[in-house]
Amino acid sequence: MLVNIPLKRVVDDSYDISIDTLPKLHFDTKVAIVTNPKVAGLHLGYLLSKISAKELYIITVADGEEYKNQASIDTILESLFNHRFNRKSMLIAFGGGVIGDMCGYVSSIYQRGIDFIQIPTTLLSQVDASVGGKTGMNNSYGKNLVGAFHQPRAVYIDPYFLTTLPEREFGAGIAEVVKMAVTFNKDFFEFLESADLKNPLVLQESIMQAVQTKASVVAEDEKEHGLRAALNYGHTFGHVIENETQYKKYLHGEAVAIGMVMANQTAVKMGLMSDEEAQRVKLLLEKYNLETSYVIADVESFYETFYLDKKSSDSSIKFILPVSIGGVEITDECSKEMIIEVLQGFGKKA
Ligand code: NAD
Ligand code: GLY
Repeated sequence: MLVNIPLKRVVDDSYDISIDTLPKLHFDTKVAIVTNPKVAGLHLGYLLSKISAKELYIITVADGEEYKNQASIDTILESLFNHRFNRKSMLIAFGGGVIGDMCGYVSSIYQRGIDFIQIPTTLLSQVDASVGGKTGMNNSYGKNLVGAFHQPRAVYIDPYFLTTLPEREFGAGIAEVVKMAVTFNKDFFEFLESADLKNPLVLQESIMQAVQTKASVVAEDEKEHGLRAALNYGHTFGHVIENETQYKKYLHGEAVAIGMVMANQTAVKMGLMSDEEAQRVKLLLEKYNLETSYVIADVESFYETFYLDKKSSDSSIKFILPVSIGGVEITDECSKEMIIEVLQGFGKKA
């Protein structure tokens, strides 16, 4: 006997991303703003001046990547149950990528899924984390290993929030902006080479270009069956650097910046990128005070750590390599010998 459940369906999960001053928002439902004490202290007053709702609650969880865990998820869930949220209720993620990923994840599991909105407040979350519906948390096995694809109903990017962002956090966001430009958009890369991102209008334009790039990748490959993996350019190397330095020395974007330089060296060896192009990317990163060198103490051990990457299988490692500037290739055809040679270029200095 065989029972078939016909479940083929077309779902319209389209949504708009506004890159502008936050508009007034009104909800006829219960709403919870999920945030942390730092972001709340800086910007909650401004957000509250823009929001009205049937009932409005604020849920805060501790600030930091180390709190992107089950305990924080439980805190948010408990508050929703206590306030009797239902499937028509709305969550608002108000903070950086940590808050956005956790709030999104809770909204994907609370009563099997409710709506949420992203109001990202770091550059990294504005250009990357808030867009595309990847949600989740960390556990003792690694980063972002538990989660779901769950798209927000809308994203409101207000560059005003960035006025309070520390310089290093800003730089970490720039690394992700450069990532989008190198892999998908040569014109945008050239724009960034001469841009002054301290100018609010230029910054807004750059955020828009980065978001547009990410949005078109997500539209083509929402669940990362292929193209979307290209957004991990610099990450394969960067994750090893973060792991080797116990996630303490570098912010994620800072490690990705060094990772992009390593990926570029690999691309140069493969004949995908010229030395001159690799140098241009390095100079652009350095323009924003991002480090571009890293001393690898043990090349073999660095290589072995690649296997912890989510994109790796037991026997092969996937590398995301730029093709010139504005193109990208995902390949598992880099020999160990060649990668070791690249890594030796970053080896221990005498
Ligand atoms: P974060 O959320 O930890 O924010 C960095 C710091 O800045 C925090 O201390 C935060 O409280 C503070 N902050 C936030 N807004 C501020 C403001 N306006 N002024 C001053 N301080 C402010 O880190 P992040 O870099 O925003 O995000 C990193 C996270 O995003 C990681 O967990 C990563 O896995 C995730 N991520 C997700 C995606 C995705 O597609 N879902 C993509 C990239 C990164
Ligand atoms: N940050 C990578 C992605 O959203 O796919």
